[in-house]
Parts: sequence; structure tokens; C-alpha cells
Amino acid sequence: MAEIDFSKYKIPRIRHHSNRSFYFSADKHTKKVSTYPPVDKSINWSKIFANAKPPDCIDIGCGLGKFMLRYACNYPDLNILGLEVRNVAVNWINGIIKSEMLGNAGALWYSSANLFPFIEDESVSRVFCLFPDPWVKRRHNKRRVINKSTINDIHRILLPKGKLYLMTDVDELSGYHIEQLESQGGFTFQLVSEDNWDLKFRSNQEEFCLSKGISIKRMICTKQV
Ligand SMILES: C[S@@+](CC[C@H](N)C(=O)[O-])C[C@H]1O[C@@H](n2cnc3c(N)ncnc32)[C@H](O)[C@@H]1O
Repeated sequence: MAEIDFSKYKIPRIRHHSNRSFYFSADKHTKKVSTYPPVDKSINWSKIFANAKPPDCIDIGCGLGKFMLRYACNYPDLNILGLEVRNVAVNWINGIIKSEMLGNAGALWYSSANLFPFIEDESVSRVFCLFPDPWVKRRHNKRRVINKSTINDIHRILLPKGKLYLMTDVDELSGYHIEQLESQGGFTFQLVSEDNWDLKFRSNQEEFCLSKGISIKRMICTKQV
């Protein structure tokens, strides 16, 4: 398995959360916000991927990007796009991509609250949503990455039998994911143990949880045909 030497790259100082407005879609803003992640309706893929093709996989809320970088490194024929609301993390990931000359990876400063209009229907084989921010309080569930609208749009962009991978260390959130998937109705899904998790590469948060003995709920969701 190919691995990047992450110790070469100094981890940037990064705030845990972004501006509150970033977790809501641009059309929900009642006041003008001075900075907001660009809302792209279409993307020129030649600016992101060496083969100028659209992404095969998407990592929503990629954080500091270890998972997507490892994935790109080990699957050079697949394009992976990371979406992340914290610009410092995006710049850091793109710096590593440049330095490691990974033509099949790119990170975008973007809020998933605006869904994925730049992705064609049924074009993506895998979507990863690994430890989306918990926002444990029910009244904050509108800020959650996974909600009715994102699940619908993930369903739209996935190929038939395409997979959504969800991972969380918050029991309550796992229950909420199940509720969202059941109400959407277009996926079959299964909670699986680490042995049946078919992704070989770990994310930053996954490494952290494993190092602290924090239990992880892993769910593989398959788009029904
Ligand atoms: C707990 S971290 C997990 C990061 C990474 N997936 C991992 O497993 O290490 C959750 C990430 O989701 C990002 N995030 C939260 N809401 C988002 C949104 N609406 N759009 C894009 N990224 C978001 C956060 O900034 C944060 O980096």
C-alpha cells in the first residue's frame, strides 16, 4: 500500500468550526455575509484533475484529508474530490497534492449545504462522509452535513449500486443517519464491523478514535437499482 509521509507537512493551526453561516445554504442567508465558500454550479474539471474528467469519488467534509490523499495515492486511475468548509484545511490538502504530484485528487472550499449541482446524475461510484460534524442537539440538525436534502442529492449523483460510506463515533448521530436513510428510501444499508469495512485507508478522525479506543459506527449504504 502506497503511503504519503505526512510528517513532511506541518499541520496548520485550524479552528474547530467555521463561521456559523457556512453550515447553511447560501439561499438561506437573510444577511449578506462577507466571506462564504464559493457556490459553484459547474466546475471545469481540467483545473482540478490531470485527466480533465469529473470525480469518481467524493469525500464530503474531508477535514485535513488523510483519507482522500491516501485513496488518491492508491487508486491513481480514480479521481477523488474532497469538499471542505474550512479553507485552511483545503489549502493544506492542495499543497500536499501539488507536492506529491497527485493529478487525481483535489480539494474544494465548499459547503455541502449547497448540495452538489456541479456533479452529473449517476456519475459517482463512491461517496464518503466520515465523521461528519455531530451537532448533537436536535435543534442544530439543520447544520448537519447529512440531512434529507444531502441524502437525496447523494442518491442522485451515485451510480446504480454506488456506495455511500458513513462513519461516526456518536451513537445518536448513527441513529439519525438511519432515520434519514429510511425516510429517503433509495438505499439498502448495513452497520458493519471494522472487519467488514472495505476501505483500507484511515481518515484523521478515524486514527484519532482508534488511538483513544473510541468506538466507531460504520455504515455502508448501497443505492438500489
Ligand atoms: C469531524 S471532521 C472529520 C474530517 C474527516 N472526514 C476525517 O474523518 O478525519 C468533520 C469535517 O466536516 C467539515 N464540514 C462540516 N460541515 C461541512 C459542510 N457543510 N460542508 C463541508 N464540510 C463540512 C468540517 O469542517 C470538518 O472538517
